[in-house]
Amino acid sequence: MTVKLLNFGKPSLQGSIKIPGDKSVSHRSIMFGAIAEGTTTVEGFLQSDDCLSTIDCFGKLGVDIKVDGEHVQIDSKGISTWKEPDEILYTGNSGTTTRLMLGILAGSSISSVLIGDESIQKRPMKRVTEPLKQMGAKLIGRANGQYTPIAVEGTTLKAIHYKMPVASAQVKSAILLAALNSQGETVVEELETTRDHTEKMLKHFGAEISVKDNVISLQGGQKLTGAHVVVPGDISSAAFFLVAGAIALDSKLVLTNVGLNETRTGIIDVLKAMGATLTIETQNNASHEPIGTLTIETSNLVGTEIGGDLIPRLIDEIPVIALLATQAKGKTIIKNAEELKVKETNRIDAVVNELRKLGANINPTEDGMVIEGPTPLHGGELSTYGDHRIGMMAAIAALVTDGIVSIDNQECIAVSYPNFFEHLENVIK
Ligand code: S3P
Repeated sequence: MTVKLLNFGKPSLQGSIKIPGDKSVSHRSIMFGAIAEGTTTVEGFLQSDDCLSTIDCFGKLGVDIKVDGEHVQIDSKGISTWKEPDEILYTGNSGTTTRLMLGILAGSSISSVLIGDESIQKRPMKRVTEPLKQMGAKLIGRANGQYTPIAVEGTTLKAIHYKMPVASAQVKSAILLAALNSQGETVVEELETTRDHTEKMLKHFGAEISVKDNVISLQGGQKLTGAHVVVPGDISSAAFFLVAGAIALDSKLVLTNVGLNETRTGIIDVLKAMGATLTIETQNNASHEPIGTLTIETSNLVGTEIGGDLIPRLIDEIPVIALLATQAKGKTIIKNAEELKVKETNRIDAVVNELRKLGANINPTEDGMVIEGPTPLHGGELSTYGDHRIGMMAAIAALVTDGIVSIDNQECIAVSYPNFFEHLENVIK
């Protein structure tokens, strides 16, 4: 773990950044390629630690995956040809890998054991193991299936009608991936719309799926066929530079290749509500997901209220939105965001503790936080809690502080954005 000193001296930011591949779509491109029969080619793949954990798991299942930078080729003859792994499947820091793999492996014909890092071992898995068990899955994990390590004995699954108790795309996706390999029609009812990359990719790989309002139906036993996937840039990574461009002095940043799937664009709604100078240009592209260019300039910001069905559309962006709010005039209230407590770390505590160290006026609530701005920020020694998004929030904060900010573990940022500091340094003028 290396301590990184960030001594930027309130710079101006100018230039253009091509946003690297979306983490959620990159994971799914490997999973779908492994399940499908035939060849899948992926363009714009995010080579981050989390996505490499997914590739590593499928390598242990005997799937042929060739990685050449952002290009990946997967050759598979389908799930029935995977080999039983002779090693434990290690999912690293990745909740998406852990939860979606549980759904996929539950309906396979092999036995396997999944384990993740220290953070994953504390994250709740019952939200996935519970519905999978209702489908007939044979799963054994710590605390009655709540935590990894979890052992999976693949078996024949039956369809379910499941009303989701939490708004979680990982839970929805785990059930849909299990449903693909089960008997009958599975119906998932969402509380609130969460990211729909799984539904979009199911269609892209040839499955029939019905989505009406928040009800998703999928007939089991459908075969997927290998496809070409163009991964859009990750709006959750772009979010750090959107906030940077809005709060740094005399700045203008052009962010290209940004995925604009509307289940993910809550950050754009928030920036607009706060009065940011932001333009959006959608572009024709070869992806099955929408892509565009965002231009952000230094902005006069006002506080806003963020809650309800907006939360799943920006859940990963809340740490950096909290930073944004420290530079906005008035009060920003973030509510209905209790899911933050079960992310890579408890992000309500982490954001409040770390922004307070820099002088922010921020208070935690049961389901979010309240920020009063604008406050000048000063330097401080910050902890990342081993959480990539807390680390990047701290680095963006350092652009507006009048002292040095240090972060304790810059390596954790590679989970989602390995080139983050290179991209940041390129736009500092
Ligand atoms: C993800 C879903 C979200 C998000 C995570 C990625 C996905 O998690 O926070 O970073 O790829 O499906 P939840 O499903 O737990 O909300």
